[in-house]
Amino acid sequence: MATETTSSNAERKMLAEAGYADPAINYYLEKKYMGQIENADQVSEKIGSCGDIMKVYLKVDENEIIDDVRYEITGCAGAISAAMAAVDLVKGRTLDEAMEINDGNVFRVLENIPEKKHHCIQLAVKTMHLGIEELKSRKN
Ligand code: FES
Repeated sequence: MATETTSSNAERKMLAEAGYADPAINYYLEKKYMGQIENADQVSEKIGSCGDIMKVYLKVDENEIIDDVRYEITGCAGAISAAMAAVDLVKGRTLDEAMEINDGNVFRVLENIPEKKHHCIQLAVKTMHLGIEELKSRKN
């Protein structure tokens, strides 16, 4: 336990020095929406310009309200924190409302991440939007 705390403190310090604000670091360390959803309504995958891969799982109710979202991510701390923050922005929203979420909204929740990681926010948002579009086109 002591070892775990020490290593997460070291990670926290390293991320802070790299330019991650506390909310971004917390999202990265907690990873609360990482994983899969069994019986997801939609699973979509996107490869970023950096070559990293994100997979999004969506669960919606009969009124197209987003019940749950999970991500599987092969990517950096910026990508993970951005994806987790994006889920908090869309949970309980309609699919149309979730399509309105943009990189700036996610950045404001994170408060700050290094500038060279801004494309990772784009990947998180684009993957979510791809999932929503693919879900909608299958339903129509
Ligand atoms: Fe590839 Fe961040 S997602 S560098």
